[in-house]
Parts: sequence; C-alpha cells; structure tokens
Amino acid sequence: MTRAKQHTQGTRARIESRRVRERALSQPGAPLGPGSVLGAYRLLAPIGEGAVGRVYLAEHTKLGRKVALKMLKKDLQNHPNLISRFFLEARAVNEIAHENIVTITDFVEGEGREPSYFIMDLLHGVTLDRLLTEEGPLSARMAMSIGAQLAAALGAVHSKGFIHRDLKPANIFLVPKDAGYFVKLLDFGAAKLVVANPPIGLPNTAVGDLVGTPDYMAPEQARAMTVDHRVDIYALGVLLYQMVTGERPFVRNTLDDVLKAQIFDVPEKPSTKRPVPEGLEKLILRCLEKAPESRPQAAAEVEAELRALNKPVASRPRKSGWGLWAAVLGTIAIAAAIFWAVALKG
Ligand SMILES: Nc1ncnc2c1ncn2[C@@H]1O[C@H](COP(=O)(O)OP(=O)(O)O)[C@@H](O)[C@H]1O
Ligand SMILES: [Mg+2]
Repeated sequence: MTRAKQHTQGTRARIESRRVRERALSQPGAPLGPGSVLGAYRLLAPIGEGAVGRVYLAEHTKLGRKVALKMLKKDLQNHPNLISRFFLEARAVNEIAHENIVTITDFVEGEGREPSYFIMDLLHGVTLDRLLTEEGPLSARMAMSIGAQLAAALGAVHSKGFIHRDLKPANIFLVPKDAGYFVKLLDFGAAKLVVANPPIGLPNTAVGDLVGTPDYMAPEQARAMTVDHRVDIYALGVLLYQMVTGERPFVRNTLDDVLKAQIFDVPEKPSTKRPVPEGLEKLILRCLEKAPESRPQAAAEVEAELRALNKPVASRPRKSGWGLWAAVLGTIAIAAAIFWAVALKG
C-alpha cells in the first residue's frame, strides 16, 4: 500500500470514528465528555462544576472559537422544573446584559433525552473562591473594587426584576485587569423573577422553598420566607466581610447551625479580626443587618459608597505664594484695626 493510500485510509478511519462517536452521543444515556460533540460544539475539557451544572471548555467545530458550555448534570437532565430553571438562567442573563455579568450567546434545548445546554463567553482568570483559598484575605482596596463591581451588576439584576439569590465566591469570576480584577457575575441558576406578571411558563419558586447557599443566606431566606432584592445586599455584605477578614461572619459546625446564626447571631466586627477602614466596616455591618429595612435599600447605594470609600486620598492643595501673602497681609490689617480701635477708645 502506498503511503498516500495509508494516509487517506487513516484519515477516513478517524472521520468514521468521530462519526460513530457523534452518532453514539445522540443515543439516550451516552456518556458526554471531552471529545464529544454537542450540536456545533466539541467538548474539550471540564472547567467547573456546581450543584446542578457542569461547565466545559468547548470549541465550535467549524470556526474553532473557544467557548464555555454549561449543561445540567446528567442525573438532572430530565427534571422538567430544572430544565425550565436552566432556561430562566440563560434568559435572565440575556435580559440583564451588563458588563459585570457573563455573556450567554446561545441556548440549545435538547430534544427527547438530549441535554439542554448554553454557550457563554469563555472567561480567563480565577473564581473569587480560588483567590481567597490561595491568597487569604484581600486588601481593603481590592475588596472594595470587587464589591463595587458586584454591586453594579446587582443594580442591573434588580432593575430588571430579578434577584440572584446565590451570590457566593464560586459564582464570582475575576478576570485580571491592570493591577486588579474585572468582575463577572456567574450562575443565575437560582435567580428569581419578582416582577408582578412573570412571563408564562417560567417557574418561580414558592414561599417555603429554601434556595441559595446557607453561608450567604439572609435571615429571611434562611427562614424560607418571602424574599426581595435585599437578600442579595445581605450576601454582598457576607462577601465583603469574607474578602477583608478571610472568614465568613458565621462559621459553624453544621448547616443547620449556620442557618440559625444567620437568623439570630450578631456578627463579630470585621476589625476584631483584621484592620478594616471604619467606613467600610460600618457599610459591611449595615448590609448584614437582620431586618431588610435596616440594610442599604439599593445595590446602587452600596456601589456609590464603596466607590467613594475607595477614592484615592487627594493630597491637600498647597497654598500658592500669593495666597500665603494675602493671608499674612489680612492678619496684619485686622491686628492694626484692633490696635487703632483700642487706642482711640483710650
Ligand atoms: N464563562 C465561563 N468561563 C470560564 N469558567 C466558567 C464560566 N462559567 C462558569 N465557569 C466555571 O464553572 C464553575 C461552575 O459554573 P456555574 O455557572 O456556577 O455552575 P453551577 O450552576 O453548577 O454552580 C464556576 O465556578 C467557574 O469556575
Ligand atoms: Mg455556581
């Protein structure tokens, strides 16, 4: 056999084996993993996993463009409520469209037993979770910069009638930029639509459902009561606390105890753990107030405060030479006037 013929046969065999793999994927229950093709995308490697989803590095088979592809975990792929929630996640992100929120470019609803998945811009950086694990507490300036960007994202989320409900370090992605980070908020899997008339077909959780992560849950969320956007402001308070001290405000042995602490315990002041600027500490503790009405009422308020606190301290302007002379002459004139007044009286 000539080399050229061997080469052609090899190529054909490779194409055939890829076809077999792609065909196998359309079989119900076929395992998905690196090398699998889903629609227009080939999965390359897993890059992240949470409670319900799995995220892969993937590439467009024709264009070669690298993306992040998120699908529900295999055992959850046929759960109708989770599929609609998954769809709500993609829709929420698209409607909010903010620079500090990850961009979703496509959603594919799997037919039959095929998985549904969506495509996101691929982000390069670290999650806040990893950063805190590897580097411990952040400087107050870095915490305020990340916090302000998160608050900006939340402002956009809330203005569109959504609540995120699952703010935590694993859902916050940090893309290195200049000497700091550009924040991208991820994972709207627990997002809730709170507008008066939600579009038909979108599932909304009922009162009594416990949604979120206990360590970041506001008291009203921990009690599974009706919640509003202020639960996100509470979670932002927990995040700020954790960024500046390296610890969450309530570290307990069981999840149940964490929930109880969210409802009843007063957090220790962050400054008892590490030096924290007074203004920042006050803001963090206000975000952590048990009663929603005692917290800052809008994310924009938190953003503005963080940006103001994080402004570089301007050096006091020095008086110019003329200003100094004017002050000296003014003082002499006042002293002379007093002298003459006293002398004339006497
Ligand atoms: N667009 C993305 N680019 C890069 N990594 C991502 C992207 N989206 C998610 N990840 C990674 O995948 C992890 C899980 O994603 P997430 O959306 O939070 O899924 P889940 O709903 O399962 O928690 C994240 O913590 C992050 O590490
Ligand atoms: Mg997540």
